[in-house]
Amino acid sequence: MAEDNSTSSPVGKLRQHWGSRLGFILAATGSAIGLGNIWKFPYITGDYGGGAFVLVYLVCVVVVGLPLMLAEFMIGRRGQENPVGAFQKLHRKGSPWQGAGWMGVASGFLILSFYSVVAGWAMAYIFKAIAGFAGSPEQIQDQFTQLVLSPGDSIMWHSIFMVLCVAIVIGGIQHGIERWSKILMPLLFLILLGLMFYGLFSTNGGLKALAFLFRPDFHKLTGEGILSALGHAFFTLSLGMGAMITYGSYMERGARLVRDAIAISVLDTFIALMAGVAIFSLVFHFGMEPQQSVGLIFKTLPVLFAELGPWISVPFFVLLTFAALTSGISLLEVVVSYFVDERGWSRTAAALVMGGLIYAVGLLCATASLEVPFMGGKGYFGFFDDLTTNYMLPIGGLLTCLFTAWVFRDKDRVDEFGSRGFAYRAFVFLVKYITPVAVVIVILHGLKLLPFMDYSH
Ligand code: PHE
Repeated sequence: MAEDNSTSSPVGKLRQHWGSRLGFILAATGSAIGLGNIWKFPYITGDYGGGAFVLVYLVCVVVVGLPLMLAEFMIGRRGQENPVGAFQKLHRKGSPWQGAGWMGVASGFLILSFYSVVAGWAMAYIFKAIAGFAGSPEQIQDQFTQLVLSPGDSIMWHSIFMVLCVAIVIGGIQHGIERWSKILMPLLFLILLGLMFYGLFSTNGGLKALAFLFRPDFHKLTGEGILSALGHAFFTLSLGMGAMITYGSYMERGARLVRDAIAISVLDTFIALMAGVAIFSLVFHFGMEPQQSVGLIFKTLPVLFAELGPWISVPFFVLLTFAALTSGISLLEVVVSYFVDERGWSRTAAALVMGGLIYAVGLLCATASLEVPFMGGKGYFGFFDDLTTNYMLPIGGLLTCLFTAWVFRDKDRVDEFGSRGFAYRAFVFLVKYITPVAVVIVILHGLKLLPFMDYSH
């Protein structure tokens, strides 16, 4: 029962906790694994030339992602509160560091508003896949344009996705998020394993895919590619917006955070690589070029699926939907936890009201086809994506890192880390000197202010 292992929060309510360590790991992995792994990672890897990009990405996960994830878990578990409350509790009431928490709540709100629209497309594609992709490659690719351009369809799928997120979050930690993560994550893994083996052994593209992903060719690596690898490490691990602080706050004392953070980062990376193998095997099997850009999943793959049939395409889009759902609930949970902890709202009221508002903002993105001129013509979609991924997450991550390095009391920090040995010293060194510098570079690049890059085009 949720109440069995609860502690009190400032408004006198009992705080729920995860039922088991596995439940926590699956929920946090569910947050990390999402559209970022299955949609974005493969296409940016394709665009930036494969192996060398993958290698840089792996280094970024270790040097930037892992320490930050650990820092977020430590802040969350120590604080036992939502991001805004946790920063205050670990510093002082009214502390300016709560701003990092505020930005996290706002990021969760904004990201979910457009994430839900893309997740809706994934759901729509399950049904397109069942019906079968047919016609000329142009006709198949055109289905995507039509979906995006018909607000009615986009709104319907966006609504369904938001209803699912709200319903699961209302269920609470153990009975909502943990239960569904325990069901969806193993299924996701099995589907992806099946697709990967299919790609490796039943197509002629398996070996080429492996070579493309794992044989680095450093001539293909660009400055732009290195920065994208770093930025992506953030998004894919759900960092910089308090999602991992929130999930950490439902954890009880005692568990070894370092091991868990390593497990979650490794799982997230594995899933991205598996998705890459599965997808590029098909791409190479059909003799296509790997640079398919944003359209890789919704435009290129369906053309290939037309030849392979629904046995491959339906599981693929189910996989994408599951991955998006476990990330969507973590985005909503950050917002909900703030209203529950700080404002004393009930979980149900917070999920319904905030879910409803996020849904309303998402409508702007779902109807982006109406081409509402907004913020220099980027449209709502591009504007929110750019604002959150390129600015809010890195700035949130930077603040979290600085807080952990210079404000978090050493005694508490050691306590959360679990030891004072070499690993702890390495962690403190990274969050003090390496991670913040790397993040500042990403932010400056976002602002087109890096001295050694050419921003003229
Ligand atoms: N990590 C998720 C993905 O890869 C996205 C996400 C970002 C989820 C931030 C929660 C918080 O798709």
